[in-house]
Amino acid sequence: MSDKIEQVKIEANAELEKVTDEATLRELEIRYLGKKGTVASLMKFMRDIPNEEKPLFGKKVNDLKQELQHEFDTRGAVLRNKTLMAEVQDPFFDPTLPSMDEPVGNLHPLTVITEEIEAIFRTMGFVIPDYPEAESEFFNFEALNIPGDHPARDMQDTFWLKDGNLLRTHTSPGQIRTMQQLKPPYRAIFPGKVYRYEALDASHEHTFHQVEGLVVDKNVSVGNLIHSMKVLIEEIFQRKVNIRLRPGYFPFVEPGFELDMECSVCQGKGCSVCKRTGWVELLPCGLVHPNVLRAGGLDPDEWSGWAFGLGLSRLVMMKYEIDDIRHIMGGDLRFLDQFQ
Ligand code: PHE
Repeated sequence: MSDKIEQVKIEANAELEKVTDEATLRELEIRYLGKKGTVASLMKFMRDIPNEEKPLFGKKVNDLKQELQHEFDTRGAVLRNKTLMAEVQDPFFDPTLPSMDEPVGNLHPLTVITEEIEAIFRTMGFVIPDYPEAESEFFNFEALNIPGDHPARDMQDTFWLKDGNLLRTHTSPGQIRTMQQLKPPYRAIFPGKVYRYEALDASHEHTFHQVEGLVVDKNVSVGNLIHSMKVLIEEIFQRKVNIRLRPGYFPFVEPGFELDMECSVCQGKGCSVCKRTGWVELLPCGLVHPNVLRAGGLDPDEWSGWAFGLGLSRLVMMKYEIDDIRHIMGGDLRFLDQFQ
């Protein structure tokens, strides 16, 4: 039996000697070391061997296998080197040409910023519930204190669906859904895509991204809201950021505010993104209106809340100094590849 092993070894080495290219080497390797190769098939002699010799035979086959593998690897490296040297010496070889690397994909800047925001809020104890993109009029408007004849409906031009539902015009319906689902107190954020029937320009898209935030607890305050917003913005920008608060009107908050940050595209000098004002509306926010708490099934005498709606597209533009919102959902790889 040992003779058989020895014989395979001699044959294999003889053939290896003759190989001059990598493809043939690979074929030979499979023939000898593959699952159904010569070495594996030596094992079928096992049954003709007396029991006490079986372990030794097994070991010898294994040794052969390892030995041959080593030979193949060494030979492979030598051949690889030879091929490379031949390529380099080719007079047409130009080492200054750009390489032909396969393109590698990367996360979209919106995904990156969403994940960052989620991480910041998770550390502050916020949960991230799921909620639908196609909504009913009730969740998108009525429950948020925007009845049918309310002028605020014109603030958010709507894509209506044939079945009478709509594409959510903001992430705020998540507030009502969360109030109906969770037992207070809680803190929650809901990132998501929203849709508006808008004319496109450098700062308006029909599809854009928001992150809604909602805190429901006893006696929450405006001070607490402002503090959380400042933490959020400075964590995202990793620097001190100039902000200002203005009163803002939204039917579902009272009092309501507009939080602006200094435009980072033009450093406050004025450009097309900030409409030459030096400030960009970043984030409306406020204390949750009692009617909204009621629609969510909460007693406004017992519970209070604050909410914000952060425009993610704007934020990405500020963070990466992008001057046209249409780049964000445009899908142009020349744009997206810059965020490797
Ligand atoms: N839902 C509002 C919008 O999209 C933003 C908002 C959210 C305002 C929460 C105040 C509080 O315009």
